[in-house]
Amino acid sequence: MSSIGRLLRVSILGESHGTCVGALVDGCPAGLPLEEADLAADLARRRAGAPGTTARIEPDVPRIASGVFEGRTTGAPILILIGNEAARPADYEGLSRTPRPGHADLAARLKYGGHADPRGGGHFSGRLTAALVAAGAIARRLIEPVEISARVTQAGGDADAHAAARAAADDRDSIGGIVECTARNVPAGLGGPLFDGVEPLLAHALLSIPGIKGIEFGAGFAAVRMRGSEHNDAITGAGGRTATNHAGGANGGITNGNPLVFRVAVRPAASIGRPQAPVALSTGAGAVVTIGGRHDACIALRVPVVAEAVTAIVLADLMLIEGRLARVLSRKEGSK
Ligand SMILES: Cc1cc2nc3c(=O)[nH]c(=O)nc-3n(C[C@H](O)[C@H](O)[C@H](O)COP(=O)(O)O)c2cc1C
Repeated sequence: MSSIGRLLRVSILGESHGTCVGALVDGCPAGLPLEEADLAADLARRRAGAPGTTARIEPDVPRIASGVFEGRTTGAPILILIGNEAARPADYEGLSRTPRPGHADLAARLKYGGHADPRGGGHFSGRLTAALVAAGAIARRLIEPVEISARVTQAGGDADAHAAARAAADDRDSIGGIVECTARNVPAGLGGPLFDGVEPLLAHALLSIPGIKGIEFGAGFAAVRMRGSEHNDAITGAGGRTATNHAGGANGGITNGNPLVFRVAVRPAASIGRPQAPVALSTGAGAVVTIGGRHDACIALRVPVVAEAVTAIVLADLMLIEGRLARVLSRKEGSK
């Protein structure tokens, strides 16, 4: 399913080269000031344009089609639509016959009996993350003063992510990368044991971003080389603050008053400009094909704002569940 969340339910819709992508945000409390311009800054951060990102530049002008009246949320579902103005479906005409190796083309074809939209990955495209970012911009406003920021720490093993991305693009190839995300001012007590832990909920949501292949919290995989004496975070105050943050902000699935810190692994894009030999479905034979279209040589460069949005959505849902939204939404004058 393309929906996530319990009290704040976010559904993502659309296809890469269809008319639009969009998000339906249900469960947002009434009274939150919201207009289309509030979504613009995050959408601009996701937009392509840097070397190593796709040549497909979408204006990403969001339209709030429901759920907002006189500049405030009404409590009804909020529908955000973002047009695909720079779509070029003709670039993908051969794809239903020769699915791209490494992309979702063939898996979707097998699952949906050939009915899935094959144009540029259809519903499986990274284009859908524009809708996630728009929904996340609403969640971010809800959870203030929680602050979420993410950055690329390396791409293709190189600390200079932009140079590495440029080199990969020049080589008509793609590279992966690591994105580190930190959420500050997160109240202690969000999440719970086992399946409703803050880490499993974040992992579920973050691994749902197309192309994300791994996640680690705090010291993460490096913890296997540490001793307990080194890994234990010394508690410095009754509020749960610790001297170090190897746990990454949660113990037992419950936020502990420290920043949430995690890193996601972003794969290299499947669509590369080098000749490949995908199987031609009609004949079963390998045919050398060069994938057309416009693609990201380094997806990781575009992921930070997406990871922030997804984190905000998960935290907003948890804060609604725990009754922990700090932001006071005023009642309309004259209403009782
Ligand atoms: C912002 C963003 C942009 C992306 N751009 C591309 C792209 O240009 N080419 C490509 O092959 N994959 C791209 N992807 C990744 C694919 O959508 C993803 O690899 C594909 O759906 C298969 O899913 P999986 O890698 O999770 O198995 C992008 C992902 C994101 C988050």
